Amino acid sequence: MSNVLRLAIVDPKDDTRERLKAMLLGMDIVWLEAECSRYEFFPDVISQSKPDVGVISLDADANKAISLLERMRVDSPDCAILAVSSTTDGQLILRAMRAGAKEFLTLPATLEEMMSALSRIADSKYGGADGKSRSSKIIAVAGSCGGVGCTSLAVNLGCVLAANSENSVALVDLDLAIGDADVFLDTIPDYSLVDVTQNIARLDFQLLKRSLTKHSSGLYLLPRPVQLQDVALITPEMLRRVFGLLKATFTHIVIDVSKGFTATDLAAFEFANDVLMVAQLDLPCLRNLVRLLMSFDEIEGLREKLKIVVNRVGLESGQIKLKKATETIGREIFYQIPNDYRTMIEVRNNGVPLLEQAPKAPITLAIQGLAELLSGAPSNNSVVTGEDPSASGSSSWLNFWPNKGTKAKTR
Ligand SMILES: Nc1ncnc2c1ncn2[C@@H]1O[C@H](COP(=O)(O)OP(=O)(O)OP(=O)(O)O)[C@@H](O)[C@H]1O
Ligand SMILES: [Mg+2]
Repeated sequence: MSNVLRLAIVDPKDDTRERLKAMLLGMDIVWLEAECSRYEFFPDVISQSKPDVGVISLDADANKAISLLERMRVDSPDCAILAVSSTTDGQLILRAMRAGAKEFLTLPATLEEMMSALSRIADSKYGGADGKSRSSKIIAVAGSCGGVGCTSLAVNLGCVLAANSENSVALVDLDLAIGDADVFLDTIPDYSLVDVTQNIARLDFQLLKRSLTKHSSGLYLLPRPVQLQDVALITPEMLRRVFGLLKATFTHIVIDVSKGFTATDLAAFEFANDVLMVAQLDLPCLRNLVRLLMSFDEIEGLREKLKIVVNRVGLESGQIKLKKATETIGREIFYQIPNDYRTMIEVRNNGVPLLEQAPKAPITLAIQGLAELLSGAPSNNSVVTGEDPSASGSSSWLNFWPNKGTKAKTR
């Protein structure tokens, strides 16, 4: 089950509520949004936290719990109900199902039983006839050399994805010491990753969104800590919880990882669906890439996620030919992004995304193409077919490229 479900739980009995909570907190497919110890307060909890699933324990007072189920069926039809009880009384189970429970679980339940009940709820909620899935896509952006364009790509990919009204997108700056995603977006955030990790236990959906900085493009930014001393407070374990909450909240999470390939960067790789490895066509970058790819092969599951993105294609100063680069790397190049120094300097100096500064520029179109490709659309980026665009001149963005055939302005 790839969807993360947001849950709220009601159980007036402290001991069973705590046991259920402990089980749910250990499941990464679940985000526990709220808990409640009184049946009569639960409708308010649901209307404020809007969870995907309400877990209602029947044991404290079966009649009150059944009335609550009936009320929720009318007031909150989008919230699927999982009824739980230590009783195996067939009559009670029948009443609960008739009152609107989607699933019934007899306590004590095993982790597997809980998982399969929640999976069935998720399938019926999101795997319906329209095929709409709420699963979240995590894209990590890494690079084989400093300054290859990772932050430029992460920020602009995030903005392009956020431009689609069906998406909600967060950008996490995991370059913990010297990240500059906030500068690219010209924002001064109130909170950083360290605030979120330190308060993770009491964060809910609403508070999380308020802790992130919303850019005018619609992109939410979670920036690196302000103080260097705070970097050590962010552990891979804490990050896993933050990513869990982000997954439950956003449709897309873009992560700008550091060039240190630290434990936190590797935790991001673990969570990611796609790891974009950005490189340029020069010798140091390609040598590093080959070396890094060999190390990545040792990490289980990483090879399948890894996608090589060549940036600044067309830069004239001594670039290695794409064909030669592909042979050297020994792996397919997934995507290429053209060099456009002038536009990139403008967006950087103005602190605005490409989509706003230069919506028709070939580099913007290329990043839009990458966003579509990562979302499953077919690509017409020439690198996918292994062509060298500077040789063929047939790729989509090269046709728009003002520098094509003319001397490209490079630094
Ligand atoms: N396709 C491109 N064409 C021209 N210039 C680019 C392109 N992509 C990035 N740049 C420029 O390269 C420089 C470095 O980019 P960026 O900061 O995104 O790289 P980075 O990999 O995040 O660097 P760091 O290693 O410091 O994190 C910036 O000045 C940016 O404007
Ligand atoms: Mg960077």
